[in-house]
Amino acid sequence: MKRVKIASIFEKPEIGKEILVKGWVRSFRSNRFIQLTDGSTINTLQAVVEFENFDEQILKKITTASAVSLLGTLVESQGSGQAFELQVKELEIIGEANPDDVQKTVMQPKKHSLDYLREQAHLRFRTNTFGAVFRIRHAVSFAIHSFFNDRGFFYLHTPIITGSDAEGAGEMFRVTNLDPQNPPLNEDGTVNYKEDFFGKAVNLTVSGQLEAELAALALGQVYTFGPTFRAENSNTSRHLAEFWMIEPEVAFNDLNDNMNLTEEFLKHICKYVLDNCKDDLKFLHDRDAQEQSQKPQNERNELGLIERLEFVVNNDFKRMTYTEAIEVLRNSNHYKKKKFQYEVEWGTDLQSEHERYLVEKEYKCPVILTDYPAAFKAFYMRQNDDGKTVAAMDVLFPGIGEIVGGSQREERLDVLKKKCADFNIHEEELWWYMDTRKFGSVPHAGFGLGFERMVMFVTGMTNIRDVIPFPRTPQNAEF
Ligand code: 4AD
Ligand code: MG
Repeated sequence: MKRVKIASIFEKPEIGKEILVKGWVRSFRSNRFIQLTDGSTINTLQAVVEFENFDEQILKKITTASAVSLLGTLVESQGSGQAFELQVKELEIIGEANPDDVQKTVMQPKKHSLDYLREQAHLRFRTNTFGAVFRIRHAVSFAIHSFFNDRGFFYLHTPIITGSDAEGAGEMFRVTNLDPQNPPLNEDGTVNYKEDFFGKAVNLTVSGQLEAELAALALGQVYTFGPTFRAENSNTSRHLAEFWMIEPEVAFNDLNDNMNLTEEFLKHICKYVLDNCKDDLKFLHDRDAQEQSQKPQNERNELGLIERLEFVVNNDFKRMTYTEAIEVLRNSNHYKKKKFQYEVEWGTDLQSEHERYLVEKEYKCPVILTDYPAAFKAFYMRQNDDGKTVAAMDVLFPGIGEIVGGSQREERLDVLKKKCADFNIHEEELWWYMDTRKFGSVPHAGFGLGFERMVMFVTGMTNIRDVIPFPRTPQNAEF
C-alpha cells in the first residue's frame, strides 16, 4: 500500500478509508493517543492504538521522536481538538528513539529558546517552528521563480568562484588550492597566485550582478538566484557570511522601472505566502504575537504577522530621495532630542537607526530611498546629472531595514571608465564587463533581494540564523 502524506489527509479527509501513514511520534498519551508528524504539514495526525490489541513490548517503543508506520482506518474523532483520527490496525516501529537521548535534545516536547535550537541545527527541523519556517522558505523560492518565469525572465546561473569584487567592498573569501604551509612566492615575498589553480587570485562571489548584466544585454531580462559570500565581520541578527540573493537585471529599464519591478516582486512574494502557506503562517503569526506580548509596549509591533504581509500587499511603498530623507531626519523630533547615535548629514551613509526611524516611526510602511551620494555606493551605478548622486535605490522594510539594494547601471563607457579610476578599480581586469559598453550599450537596471531577509519578514523570525538551514557566521560553521 502506498503511504499517504498527512498534508493530503488534512486537505481531503476520506472518512472510512483505510490508509497507511509513516512519520515520527510527537507524543504518546495515555498509552493510547499518538500525535504523528511527517513534515508535510504543521498539522499532526492523531492515531489511536487500542493497547489490548498490541504487544506491550511494541507499545513501549512508541516514544517521542521514534519513527513508526501505521495502517488503519480514518474515522471521525470522538474527542475534541481534531475532526478525525486514525484507528490503528497494524503498527510497525521503523526507528527507535531512546527517551534518555531525546531528553537531551530539542525534540523533547516543550518550548525551547532559539539559541538552544541553533546549537542543534541538525535536529531543529523536527520542531514546529522550524518546520514552518523551512516549508515557507521553500514556498518563497517557488514564488520567486514563478514570478520571473511568468514575466519572461531567464534564470541565469552565475559563477560562485570569481576573480572580481562586484561590490568593491573587499569582503571576500579567497579560494585556493595552494599549500598553505609552503605557497609559491613572488620576489617581494607575496604569494604568487599565477601558480594557483586558476592562474590568478580568485574568491567566492559577493554578487552575480556583473555577470547578469552581460546576459541581460543579450537575453533582455534575466535573474540569478544563488549563494553569495561576504566575509564581513558583523555579528548581527541580519548578516550571514553565506546567504542567497536574487538579482534580476533588465535591459532598457531605468530607475523608475526598477522600482516598479521591485515593488511588484515583493508584493507578489507576500501574497503568495498569504495564499499558499496558511497553516504555517497561522502558527508563526501566533508565535510572533506571543513574542510581542513579552516585549515592552513601545517596542511591540502594532500589526500582527499576517497583517504585516497584508499591509505590504495592499499599500504603495513610499518613494523618496536620499536628500529628502536627510531633510526628514534632521527635522524630526527624534533628531532634535539628539536620540540618534550617529550623525545625520548629507554625504554620510544612513545607519540602520536612521533607516528604521523612517520606516517604523515616520512612514510606517516600506520605503524606497533613491539617488544616494556616489561616494558610498558601488562603481557601476549610473551617475546623475547633478554630478553628486547616483541612480541607486535601497528598499527598507519594517523590522528588517535594507531588504533590497539596486540601481540603474552606468551604460556610458567614458563615465564608467572615470568611475573605475575614482574607485581605484583596474578596468583591465574588468575588460569583459567594460566590453559590453562598446557593443550596443543600452540603459539597464537591476537589484538584489537578500533572500533570508525576505524569509525573515514573511515568517516574523527576528534572527537571520533562524531562517537558513545551516547558518554560516563568524566563528560558526558547524554542521
Ligand atoms: O545591497 P547589496 O550589497 O547589493 C548587491 O550586491 C547588488 N549587486 C545587487 C544588484 O543590484 N544586483 O546586497 C543586496 C541585498 C541587501 O539589500 C541585503 O538584503 C542582502 O543582499 N545582504 C545580505 N543578507 C544577509 N547577510 C549579508 N551579509 C548580506 N549582505 C547583503
Ligand atoms: Mg546594499
